[in-house]
Amino acid sequence: MRDFARPGAAQGPDNPLVLHVLGARPNFVKAAPVVRALAELGVRQGIVHTGQHYDALMSDVFFADLGLPEPIANLGVGSGSHARQTAALLVGLEDVVLEHRPTLVVVYGDVNSTLAAILVCAKLNVPTAHVEAGLRSFDREMPEEVNRIVTDGLSDILFATSPDALSHLAAEGVDPARVHLVGNPMIDSLFSALDHLDPAPVRARLGLPERYAVATLHRPGNVDDPASAKELVNAVLSVSERLPVVVPLHPRGRTRLAEAGLVNGENLLIVDPLGYVEFLSLVRGATLVVTDSGGVQEETTMLGVPCLTVRPNTERPITITHGTNRLVTPAQLPAAADRALADGAATPSGELPPLWDGKAGPRIARVIESWLRGGNLSPAGQSVSPKSL
Ligand code: UD1
Ligand code: UDP
Repeated sequence: MRDFARPGAAQGPDNPLVLHVLGARPNFVKAAPVVRALAELGVRQGIVHTGQHYDALMSDVFFADLGLPEPIANLGVGSGSHARQTAALLVGLEDVVLEHRPTLVVVYGDVNSTLAAILVCAKLNVPTAHVEAGLRSFDREMPEEVNRIVTDGLSDILFATSPDALSHLAAEGVDPARVHLVGNPMIDSLFSALDHLDPAPVRARLGLPERYAVATLHRPGNVDDPASAKELVNAVLSVSERLPVVVPLHPRGRTRLAEAGLVNGENLLIVDPLGYVEFLSLVRGATLVVTDSGGVQEETTMLGVPCLTVRPNTERPITITHGTNRLVTPAQLPAAADRALADGAATPSGELPPLWDGKAGPRIARVIESWLRGGNLSPAGQSVSPKSL
């Protein structure tokens, strides 16, 4: 049995190592710009893939499209209930952290892999940074909200993507000196891909006309319960009476949504999840997007595509105030689609979210590099030094 009481020496300040823990589709998109920017600064780093998402179309395609380096480890935890998946993540990640003894572990977003990594590091006294800190839906029925609160409570360095996050973290007692408003690395990835986002080839491949809607649906609150799934599917069917709808379907909802009637029809096309570049190409050319995704709310804001989010709340209100996003219930969806098709993508403030300029990755990398060199979070900040395990 491993002797946990006597781990080897940690990576000291002379030989720092940054580990990024990634597990699910949106993690890859958020991490790519940070990994690239740290590489440009010459920081030694590695990716640990937890294997939470494992289908080629949910994982490999993102490494290829985003130019992410091969992971140094893939834990292959796979799917399961929250307890089983999180338990497998904890066990696997503890071994990896003890083996590699990183100076800093960077986690992304709000998935179970994020939560597990932050817990493991907190118990092993390994410093951590959370990218996309401080978002709150104030809805604890969402598993992601629980993950966000715990992750932010235990992170040493917190990178916020929007100003509202700063007040949420302050209200929860997080020292502001540990928080950095850096912009949105998911938008960096979008900027990097922009020149390759051509709707024509994917439209041709899928046989879509010029005007079409894209729908993505995977939130447990929408797809797990048969009655909710049915209500949602009926609403999407109603949108498909107005214009063709293509649904790149996340594996989570597949069976339940098909049982509820989300099947190929004259104006409805159900396809496998798409790779990053192909998906965003489709979104860029869309007349309307219907979604319950977090990231898609942000991407449509930047691409200026009207987005109807079928959720009672969002942890990304900036996509409503500074973007093209609207929250709707399934019952409101058809009328909201009519309005969006008539009005296009008006943004209430007329301004895009601050610092969503494609430079969040370099900002994050500079904070991390300076911390690795000096052990300080910020000139005024509480110091969290690289520690031994
Ligand atoms: C997870 C995140 C969610 C995020 C989403 C991004 C948690 C709690 N949830 O949800 O916040 O929005 O990823 O896509 O971490 N499955 C496959 N192949 C895969 C992966 C999953 O078939 O490669 C199926 C399995 O049946 C699995 C189900 O999808 O049980 C759910 O996967 P899981 O990773 O637990 O959660 P997501 O719903 O994907
Ligand atoms: N995405 C993709 N292919 C798809 C659906 C989504 O590449 O078929 C991308 C999308 O552009 C965004 C990310 O996946 O960058 C969002 O992931 P998801 O909606 O699964 O998670 P969430 O953001 O809701 O956590």
